[in-house]
Amino acid sequence: MFAVTAARIDADDPLSALELGEHPDPSPPDGWTTVSVRAAALNHHDVWTLRGVGISADRLPIVVGCDAAGVDEDGHDVIVHAVIGDPSVGGGDETLDPRRSLLSERYDGTFAERVAVPRRNLVPKPVALSFTEAACLPTAYLTAYRMLFTKSGLQPGATILVQGAGGGVATALIILGRAAGFRVWATSRDERKRDRALELGADQVFPNGARLPERVDAVLESVGQATWAHSLRALRPGGRIVVCGATSGAVPPADLNRVFFLQLSVVGSTMGTRDELERLATFLEQTGVRPTIDRVLPLSQAKDGFAAMIAGDVFGKVVFTV
Ligand SMILES: NC(=O)c1ccc[n+]([C@@H]2O[C@H](COP(=O)([O-])OP(=O)(O)OC[C@H]3O[C@@H](n4cnc5c(N)ncnc54)[C@H](OP(=O)(O)O)[C@@H]3O)[C@@H](O)[C@H]2O)c1
Repeated sequence: MFAVTAARIDADDPLSALELGEHPDPSPPDGWTTVSVRAAALNHHDVWTLRGVGISADRLPIVVGCDAAGVDEDGHDVIVHAVIGDPSVGGGDETLDPRRSLLSERYDGTFAERVAVPRRNLVPKPVALSFTEAACLPTAYLTAYRMLFTKSGLQPGATILVQGAGGGVATALIILGRAAGFRVWATSRDERKRDRALELGADQVFPNGARLPERVDAVLESVGQATWAHSLRALRPGGRIVVCGATSGAVPPADLNRVFFLQLSVVGSTMGTRDELERLATFLEQTGVRPTIDRVLPLSQAKDGFAAMIAGDVFGKVVFTV
């Protein structure tokens, strides 16, 4: 089958590690099934894979991609949950299974004509969502859903700050947060992206590091080092940072004086459960909101999508059709 693989690891030139071509068909073990992929969405995770983050060279070549929507062996339209883990080991939450992996870390991912997954990882695709829209959900939108509704501890009406408005997770946070009734503020390095964030439903937008009109209840972080100091300064006493990523670097100064004196919380968040993915799909169906898609490309042009993400030249999701 045709597939997009990480053939090597190259921390400095990730695009050179990407290969497009023939790859063996999946052979699902017991309890697994095969999905014919219709659409697959790109995440920064796929760039990290090419750079060698979260994967070892002995796993290569591996098909990249976490997200997919497609058709299962019985002809049902499905969304693929990308977390391979055992909920019973994680206290009912497969993301807390210590042996958890994401598609494309230990098992072949979704940038292919077919992908094998555990049967329990299939979630029915609502008819109202296209394959392209549904393919955006399993990583960026699921992560945003869990950050907002499981980890932030906030109720509608609270004020949240989303750092780095242009990213896949960040646009999802703005869209879902707005639909749920949060007051959403957002930052971006880029004026055009700030304007786009307003169009998506952000209440106010700011350049990175700007002084805010007032302190916020929570900051939702996926940028890391470049915005961390601002995130700490932006919080009201007792406020919370929910962090899912560190695109610009993972070791900013901790500023512990501020953390304990203002009694701030820092909460990590990763992906979400299958049940959260199912509720997310229903949330989109019920609210009518849809993922923001920057561009749709055939899988054969995957390199162009990766190049745009590496250059930071995207607003929302890049989706590949198969
Ligand atoms: N824990 C999880 O389960 C999980 C799930 C999904 C993603 N993540 C992580 O979250 C991060 C974002 O993922 P994504 O797929 O949304 O990536 P993306 O679409 O490439 O977004 C990158 C974001 O980073 C900002 N940014 C990048 N470099 C920056 C810099 N030097 N200074 C300031 N802002 C910068 C961009 O904001 P502007 O251009 O608007 O300023 C944009 O919001 C990645 O590190 C990813 O690995 C984690």
